[in-house]
Amino acid sequence: MTHSGLTNLVLIGFMGAGKSTIARICARRLGMTLCDTDQILENKYQMSITQLFSELGEQEFRRQECNLIQELSTGSRQVIATGGGVVLNPVNVAALRATGLVVLLNVDLDTIVERVRHQTHRPLLAGATDLRAHVEEMLKKRTPIYREAAHCTVEVRGLSPVESAASVVNLFKTISGEGK
Ligand code: S3P
Repeated sequence: MTHSGLTNLVLIGFMGAGKSTIARICARRLGMTLCDTDQILENKYQMSITQLFSELGEQEFRRQECNLIQELSTGSRQVIATGGGVVLNPVNVAALRATGLVVLLNVDLDTIVERVRHQTHRPLLAGATDLRAHVEEMLKKRTPIYREAAHCTVEVRGLSPVESAASVVNLFKTISGEGK
């Protein structure tokens, strides 16, 4: 079955799933515009995500993120890499699903912890005394929300970004009717 109305490709998933890297490869392969929501907000405010959280607060960050999602959802032929918390607002999910194929990059706890352990740019993970327990709790809460928001899922455990992107591109081509 194809959904020819879905002109965007949207990547969702937990922090460390590889959304930005995989989106970049997909955009190149599909000849579509790359839109990385965190990156766009960082450029707009000339601040890092950590600074945005501390200067604006999480609530205002989420408001800006929501405005951006509404704007991007009216565009077409974009690969949209979302921040891991985008799906927490049902308004975002509805907008993204209206024009985009929403693909969950699903990743397991061990892989996430391994990837984020030495990174410092994620305010929601900074300062956790027990990083693994913190990620586990967030992942448990969010997994059903990611599953519900997604049209389909790619399991990225053990795959390189190039391999993950190849699966996503195939899904997009098949489901959106692109290239048929
Ligand atoms: C967040 C994920 C981050 C960033 C912000 C909040 C989240 O994006 O938007 O730190 O709530 O999961 P990444 O998923 O790209 O790390």
